[in-house]
Amino acid sequence: MDAGSPQNRDTWGSKTAFILAAAGSAIGLGNIWGFPTQAGMNGGAAFLVIYLIAVALIGAPVMLAELMIGRHTMRNPIGAFKMLAPGRSWWLIGAMGVFAGVIILSFYSVLAGWTMAYIVKAATGAFTVGVDTEAMFADISARPLSAISWHLAFIVLTIFVVVGGVRDGIERWTKVLMPVLLVLLLLLAVRAVTLPGARTGLEFYLKPDFSAVNFRVVLAAVGQAFFSLSLGMGAMITYGSYLSKKDELVTSAAWVTGLDTFIAFLAGLIIFPTMFATGFDASVQGPSMVFVVLPSLLAAMPPQPYGGLIFGTGFFILLGIAALTSSISLLEVGVTWAVDEKKWPRKKAAILLGSIAFLVGIPSALANGAVDWLTNVPGVGMDFLTLLFTIFGSFALIVGACFISLFVGWKWGVTAAGDEARASDGRFRLEGIWRVLIRFVCPTALLIILIQTLLQTF
Ligand code: PHE
Repeated sequence: MDAGSPQNRDTWGSKTAFILAAAGSAIGLGNIWGFPTQAGMNGGAAFLVIYLIAVALIGAPVMLAELMIGRHTMRNPIGAFKMLAPGRSWWLIGAMGVFAGVIILSFYSVLAGWTMAYIVKAATGAFTVGVDTEAMFADISARPLSAISWHLAFIVLTIFVVVGGVRDGIERWTKVLMPVLLVLLLLLAVRAVTLPGARTGLEFYLKPDFSAVNFRVVLAAVGQAFFSLSLGMGAMITYGSYLSKKDELVTSAAWVTGLDTFIAFLAGLIIFPTMFATGFDASVQGPSMVFVVLPSLLAAMPPQPYGGLIFGTGFFILLGIAALTSSISLLEVGVTWAVDEKKWPRKKAAILLGSIAFLVGIPSALANGAVDWLTNVPGVGMDFLTLLFTIFGSFALIVGACFISLFVGWKWGVTAAGDEARASDGRFRLEGIWRVLIRFVCPTALLIILIQTLLQTF
């Protein structure tokens, strides 16, 4: 067999296992940290509406398209494009995905490292009513040694799981813990919306005011949708490549998209009422917002004085695991490529690519106040972490998704792609709508957004 042979490939144990693993990739800091942060900076309810439209019209069809490419080729993102378009440059989309995966992992792990530090804080009783959560956050993220050590610890954990492989590594973790996270989030949402003073927050989040909407808001919403759904960089191609030929594609894609979106929505329902009820000012922005607001809600959970200990520890353990099931997918894209095409042992690939992500992530770890000029990169006006997030966590994903929709819509073709769905699903429901979305709506919308962004940046 040729390079990237699908022979002897591991597959997910069942359709449910796949849905949970793919939802595990999608659900992560992007939902709990990214979504409320972006919504907070971009107008609240108006952002939510645009986000939901972006998920339905662009996110969902691209999700299905990536799964089709992956399952059909049973290859890594680079090998997949090489197989479907031999001798052409389409494989560069896959290459960009592998690259973006490592870079996203580099800063993702910094944020996830903070999450791990919070587990220790909460478990040692630091979450008490009235505690200064800004000082707590600074203690974790602004001390160089703390930030870098937690970043390292998280990368090591990610490598460890990825070395274990698909079935024993990734699948085992996600099956039990994702449902528990959902229940805990529901509980917190109920608590948050019943806080005295929650109303202003709910209005901010649910009563749209479109007067402030501009292209920046649309760009942020679309970028956030791709980041949250793990699209545009080959993660879903990779996960789809491990999907059995028997398992249904369309319902899987719908479940993953729906679960991810619901959890992001819940996170907003938790953050905004809490933020307004506890008097945090909406200008506590950027990556720190959620990490400062959430602990104050957790600390005040009943039964006092143990609420902070119980809910704080539980919440951050689950958030850490949600982050882990996402970070392994970021690393897995490159590892699958190195194993398939370069014939590296899985272990070597995971350690090497993980180490690169660790090193690249050091400036991001130092950006939150630990090193001054990184806190506001000269000439750019954002910190290093936000800069990487903007370029690789948003812009690159939009570029990737634009090419993926062009590829499936026009090069590989909707009929061939549709056959892949029909092979397992029997009937491909909503095929007509999907064809229009992937051929016309997605590429056009994404091109307009990209051109607008470039025009506004330069
Ligand atoms: N979707 C993940 C999250 O929301 C992050 C991610 C992005 C994972 C891209 C894989 C690929 O946290």
